[in-house]
Amino acid sequence: MQHLANVSELRGAKAHAAAIEVAGLSHVYAGREGQVPALEDIALTVGAGRFVVIVGPSGCGKTSLLMMMAGLRNQTSGTILCAGRPIDAPDPDRVGVVFQEASLFPWLTALDNIEFPLSIRHAPREERRRRANAMLELVGLQGFGGRYPHELSGGMKQRVSIARGLVQDPPVLLMDEPFAALDEQTRMTMGHELLRIWSQTAKTVVFVTHSLTEAVYLADEVLVMSARPGRIIDRVDITLPRPRTYEMMATDVFGRLRERIWQQIRKAT
Ligand SMILES: Nc1ncnc2c1ncn2[C@@H]1O[C@H](COP(=O)(O)OP(=O)(O)OP(=O)(O)O)[C@@H](O)[C@H]1O
Ligand SMILES: [Mg+2]
Repeated sequence: MQHLANVSELRGAKAHAAAIEVAGLSHVYAGREGQVPALEDIALTVGAGRFVVIVGPSGCGKTSLLMMMAGLRNQTSGTILCAGRPIDAPDPDRVGVVFQEASLFPWLTALDNIEFPLSIRHAPREERRRRANAMLELVGLQGFGGRYPHELSGGMKQRVSIARGLVQDPPVLLMDEPFAALDEQTRMTMGHELLRIWSQTAKTVVFVTHSLTEAVYLADEVLVMSARPGRIIDRVDITLPRPRTYEMMATDVFGRLRERIWQQIRKAT
């Protein structure tokens, strides 16, 4: 009994553990016209399994922050811990990344694009195929694995990007305006699909968007950033139940949450 109690305590601890911890983070770019302070004293914690959305005015440092969380860029000062350890170089086993542009290799099929992160790590061919096919199915593209990017729609290409971000099964997925280039209807469908994938895979997601509707629809919590140099100026808990439905967008609660975030962004610019 003692042992069982310990196991469930451990599980409980894991469920509340921080996937990402940022403390005292600042960044200054050295541009041609001198120093550009981009981020100032950022502190945030993303709990394991949470869906956190970051919003803020253009140029406030959202992409910079995500690049640092992915180990793709080094901050000037401060620390970032991912799963309890510093991240100062890309580590696809810990963090997957999906950018605004699908950025697929045009000469590779959808399946080969998804496999790519595994092939550069020399994973056995059979395992690569199996994983890539499972991811293709997860994003609803079964039967399209042999297509080249130019034979896919914008939404399908983004699905391939998401599958590629997930193929190494990282606990954390960072997404920088992944649906910005899509029409509104496809964008809503993709958001809904992403929530389905998130609930099936229990990932931690950090998602950047300019759409406040998308932010409220997707998030457990929304972090609002100020204009450059970016700081976190508000943290809004999204209290809507899950699973989220399109009908929720018409509710007063949804409208009030969206309005609060909008007011903060207006003040911030
Ligand atoms: N490599 C760089 N060298 C110099 N300055 C940079 C560099 N990258 C970004 N910046 C500057 O840092 C600031 C933050 O840029 P960043 O791309 O992180 O903003 P963002 O919040 O993602 O903006 P957007 O919403 O438009 O995507 C901007 O003022 C930008 O001009
Ligand atoms: Mg950006």
